[in-house]
Amino acid sequence: VQTYQAEQTLAGKRFVITAGGTKERIDPVRYIGNDSSGKMGTALANVASALGAEVELITTANLPTLPEVHVTDVQSVADMQQAVMAHFQASDVVIMAAAVADYHVLAPSDHKLKKTSEQSGLTLQLEQNPDILKTLGETKTHQLVVGFAAETDDLLQHAQTKLAKKHADLLIANFVGGGLGFNQDTNAVWLMQPNTEPIQVPEASKLEIAETILNTIQQIRG
Ligand code: CTP
Ligand code: CA
Repeated sequence: VQTYQAEQTLAGKRFVITAGGTKERIDPVRYIGNDSSGKMGTALANVASALGAEVELITTANLPTLPEVHVTDVQSVADMQQAVMAHFQASDVVIMAAAVADYHVLAPSDHKLKKTSEQSGLTLQLEQNPDILKTLGETKTHQLVVGFAAETDDLLQHAQTKLAKKHADLLIANFVGGGLGFNQDTNAVWLMQPNTEPIQVPEASKLEIAETILNTIQQIRG
C-alpha cells in the first residue's frame, strides 16, 4: 500500500466507502456478525486515495489504510447508516462494499445474558435493518452509487435484480462459497450497469480488482 504509485486520476473527487461486516449486538459480549473481512472495501479506499481522491472510509474492519484516508469506525448498521448519510450530500461517489446485516436484535440486553438449566432454547427477536444502498439510490442527486452483491447461486440474475431494485449505477457481483469471496486476498467479479451487458473480471488481487472498479467508475463519469 505504501509504495503504490499512481497518476492522480481521481483528484478532487470525494468518495464515501463502507467496508467490513456489521455487528449487531445481542448483549455487551456477543453480537451477530458475518464473514466479511473488509479487505475489498479497504482496498478500494486505499487505491482511490492513491489515485488522488478524498476518501471517507466507514468501516467495521481494522485494516491498514493510507494516512490520507479518513476512517470512521462503526459496528452496527444504524451507526453505519448515520455515518454514510452524514457524508452523502457532499460526496461524488458512494461505494457500499460493507456486508450489511439484514436484521438487528430488537431488544439487545445491556447485561450479559445467562443460560439457565430450565431453558434449553433461546429465541432472539430480530427486526429488519434499513437498506442503506437502496436509500442512497432512491435519493441521489448527483452522486454515483455503487453496490456489491455476493451470491451463492444464480449470481447474474440476483445481481441484476438488486441493481434495478436499489437504483445503483454500478453493481459488483461475486460468487461466495467454496473458498471464494469473503476473507480472501483475491476476487473474481462481474461489473453490472443498467442497460449494459455484464463485464466479467477474472480472478485477481483485491487491489487489482479495486483498480478495475475505480477505472469503471471514472469511465461512467466521463
Ligand atoms: N446493503 C445495504 N443495506 C442493507 C443491506 C444491504 O446498503 N440493509 C447493500 C450492501 O452493502 C451491498 C448491497 O446492498 O452493497 C447488496 O447487499 P445484499 O446483502 O447482497 O442485498 P440484500 O438486498 O440484502 O439481499 P439478500 O436478501 O440477498 O441479502
Ligand atoms: Ca443482505
